[in-house]
Amino acid sequence: MTTKRILSGMQPTSQLHLGNYLGALKNWVTLQEEGSECLYCVVDLHAVTVAYDADRLAQATREIAAAYIAAGVDPAKSSIFVQSAVPGHSQLMWLLATMTQMGKLERMTQFKDKAGKDKERAGLGLFAYPVLMAADILIYNATHVPVGDDQKQHLELSRDIAATFNTRYGTEHFIQPDPYIMGAATRVMSLRDGTQKMSKSAESDMSRINLIDDADMIAKKIRKAKTDPASLPETTAGLEGRPEAANLVTIYAALSGQSKDAVLQAFGGKEFSVFKPALVDLAVAHLAPITARMNDLLGDVSEIDNILRRGADKANEMAAPMVDETYKIMGFWR
Ligand code: AMP
Ligand code: TRP
Repeated sequence: MTTKRILSGMQPTSQLHLGNYLGALKNWVTLQEEGSECLYCVVDLHAVTVAYDADRLAQATREIAAAYIAAGVDPAKSSIFVQSAVPGHSQLMWLLATMTQMGKLERMTQFKDKAGKDKERAGLGLFAYPVLMAADILIYNATHVPVGDDQKQHLELSRDIAATFNTRYGTEHFIQPDPYIMGAATRVMSLRDGTQKMSKSAESDMSRINLIDDADMIAKKIRKAKTDPASLPETTAGLEGRPEAANLVTIYAALSGQSKDAVLQAFGGKEFSVFKPALVDLAVAHLAPITARMNDLLGDVSEIDNILRRGADKANEMAAPMVDETYKIMGFWR
């Protein structure tokens, strides 16, 4: 028996990469296999807070759903759905927005990064993004939210909003969700610069391994990944001050399910010319079946659409009464 309820989501902005996979998606599957109740959402309303291609949005949404399934999220065990197909998310967001301070939103580092220098021109949706994320989570009373390290601050805000609501209305209506930042690779770094996060938006495609990259492309990217001239250290302490080496060892550890110490026991003292080919073999063995399954699924989108429709029905059944109850607590006419 478990009392955990898991919710997480990814934006259909572009192709998923190894950071998304190791930081989040792989853990989603672990939690599903532990028997937790899992809800996995494609957060399309979040994706339109930045410039996007309307002609591609629906297909990009299917592609993210296909990646979830290909990575092992099983629609028979977990609900997979699209955020915009569950109107309760937007409804709850408005209610929560009324109790979220602008000052707190202004401190969000993701907003600052995405808004860039000209904050005056940033859209209201981008600013309010974390409130919608809080609604995504609180609407299901999710207890745990498996995400990468970069989402910690947003999760803190979700907890804060839940607590504000509960205090203001004297209830225990919302559960404060815990971030679940798990696995060896909570923050996968760029292959070109070990001090920058691997990201969808980085200009150079060589900085990331995409889930759709084929074996040759993965090999090329790892071969060209930035390193330093020294050989690999014998212990993790020796990775200090060597961000690129630390990143590749972390990726190896996460993909192989070993600790970093174990990886360094095997490769300590060896050159990158030995380590990189081993990493290529491991990455290809791990990712090729996922890529193949994804391509397979995308060959017949009606199957994905059916899964998403069923997921939305289930999510709506859970979300609608929660929104209704929230209106009632806030004193609305019903
Ligand atoms: P996003 O690409 O922003 O939609 O992120 C989707 C999920 O992947 C979130 O849980 C992020 O925290 C996680 N994520 C994104 N980039 C990385 C990264 N470089 N390392 C680890 N997790 C990541
Ligand atoms: N903000 C998350 C990201 O950029 C995506 C997201 C939206 C999310 N709603 C969520 C993640 C709810 C977990 C739970 O990756």
